[in-house]
Amino acid sequence: MIVVIGPATVGGIQAGAFKIGDTAGTIDNIIQCKLYRPGSVGFVSKSGGMSNELYNTIARVTDGIYEGIAIGGDVFPGSTLSDHVLRFNNIPQVKMIVVLGELGGRDEYSLVEALKAGKINKPVCAWVSGTCARLFKSEVQFGHAGAKSGGEMESAQAKNQALGDAGAVVPTSYEAFETSIKETFQKLAEEGKISPIKEFTPPQIPEDLNSAIKSGKVRAPTHIISTISDDRGEEPCYAGVPMSTIIEKGMGVGDVISLLWFKRSLPRYCTQFIEICIMLCADHGPCVSGAHNTIVTARAGKDLVSSLVSGLLTIGPRFGGAIDDAARYFKDAYDRKLSPYEFVESMKKKGIRVPGIGHRIKRGDNKDKRVELLQLFARTNFPSTKYMEYAVEVETYTLSKANNLVMNVDGAIGSLFLDLLAGSGMFTKQEIDEIISIGYLNGLFVLARSIGLIGHTFDQKRLKQPLYRHPWEDVLYTK
Ligand code: ACO
Repeated sequence: MIVVIGPATVGGIQAGAFKIGDTAGTIDNIIQCKLYRPGSVGFVSKSGGMSNELYNTIARVTDGIYEGIAIGGDVFPGSTLSDHVLRFNNIPQVKMIVVLGELGGRDEYSLVEALKAGKINKPVCAWVSGTCARLFKSEVQFGHAGAKSGGEMESAQAKNQALGDAGAVVPTSYEAFETSIKETFQKLAEEGKISPIKEFTPPQIPEDLNSAIKSGKVRAPTHIISTISDDRGEEPCYAGVPMSTIIEKGMGVGDVISLLWFKRSLPRYCTQFIEICIMLCADHGPCVSGAHNTIVTARAGKDLVSSLVSGLLTIGPRFGGAIDDAARYFKDAYDRKLSPYEFVESMKKKGIRVPGIGHRIKRGDNKDKRVELLQLFARTNFPSTKYMEYAVEVETYTLSKANNLVMNVDGAIGSLFLDLLAGSGMFTKQEIDEIISIGYLNGLFVLARSIGLIGHTFDQKRLKQPLYRHPWEDVLYTK
C-alpha cells in the first residue's frame, strides 16, 4: 500500500525501523522518546512540531510508538488522519491509536464517521487543538494553511465533541491528553491486550565531534600545523595582519612576502629591496634556459601551468638557483674572516664553483646592470652592506683570474640579503641561520621569473607559434 504524506510534513517514523523527514529530531531525542524500538501506539498528527511533543508524551506514559506520522497542515493533504487511523487499525502490533487534530477543515469528521461505522476496533485517544480560537472576535488563520477558524463545524470544540460522541477518548483539555493516553494504555495492559516490550539499552551514541569541539569537551588531533595565514575569520590574515589593513596601509608585494615568508612586517627599505629583486629578475629575454624551455613547451601546445613549470624546473645551481648557496658560502667565509683569496682558493681545492660568481655573457668590462642597480639601492638605503662589500672583494679577486667571473645577480641578491637580515635588527642570529639553512632566497628568483615565464607562454600562444624543432645544423652529430 502506498501512502503519500505531506506535502507540508515534517515526516514520519516507524520506530526502530525507518524515518523520513526531520521528524523526531536529533538522535538524542529519538533515544529519549524510545523511538529506537517499536511500541504499541499508532500516532497521527496534523502538526509536525506537536508530533515531536507527543512522541515524548507517549514515550512517558505508554510502551512507546509503533508508527508516528505527521500528515501536515495543508488544506488538501496527501493522506488524511482517518487514512492513517484505518491503516493502524489493520496493523496487529498497534494496540491503541493517538490522534492530534486541528481546527479548520473537516478531516476529523471522516474519522468520526469511521468510528460510528464501527470500522475502528482499537481504542482511539484524540484531541483537536485550537480551542483558543473562540477567544478571538474575528476569524483567525493559524500557522497551517488548513488551520482556519471557519464555521462552527470546523471549530476544535465541535470536532472534539463529535469525536467523543463517536467513541474516541477525548480529554477536557490538551493538558489532560497525557492522562487519557496513560489510562487507555493501562487499561489495555490490565486486560492483557498489550504484551510487555522487551526493553534493551540502545548502543551508546558517540557525541558529535563538531558539537564536542565547540563545547570545549574534546580536541581532535590536527594533521597540519600552519603559522603564516588564517582564513577562518571575517577576512583572511597574513601573519595576523588582515587583508583590509594590507590594502588600507597601501602595502605592496614586498610587504606580503615579508608577512608570508618571514612572518613579520619588515621596514620599508627591506620590502622595497624585495620588490626590486622581483622586478629585476622577472625576465631576462627568450634565450636563457628557463624562458627557452617555457617557449618550447608552450609551442608544443601545452597549457599555462605546464609551460610555466617546464621553465621553472630549469632553475638550479647554474641558472637562478644559486642565491641560497651564495648566501651560505659568503656568510661562512665572511664570518670565519677568510680573505677573498683564501675563500676562492679553498673553494677551488674542493672543486666547487663559487656560487654567485660567473656569467655566460657578462664580463668584467660589461657588468650585469641588475647587479649594479641592486648594489646602488643597498648602498643608499641599507644601514650596512658588509656582506655585499665582501662579495665585491671576492669578485675583484675572481676577475683577476678570468674576465667572466663577475658577480652575477644571484651573488648580489644572496650577499645583500645577508645584509638585510643582519642589518635590519628584525632577526635573531638563530633566525638568520635558519633562513639560510632552509634556503628561502631562491624563492625570490622563482617568484620573480614566474612573471616572465608566464609572459613568454602568453606571447607564444598569441603569436600562434608552431611546434618547435631544433635545427639539424645547430647540432654537432659526431661519434
Ligand atoms: N667559480 C669558480 N670558477 C668558475 C665559476 C665560479 N663561479 N664559474 C665559472 N668558473 C670557471 C669554470 O670552472 C671554467 O674554468 P675551467 O675552464 O678551468 O673549467 C671557467 O670559469 C669558464 O667557465 P664557463 O664554463 O665558461 O662558465 P659558464 O658560462 O658555463 O658558467 C655559470 C656560467 C654557470 C653561471 C657559472 O659561472 C657558475 O656555475 N657559477 C656559479 C653558480 C651561479 O652563480 N649560478 C647562477 C648564475 S646567475 C643566473 O643564472 C641568473
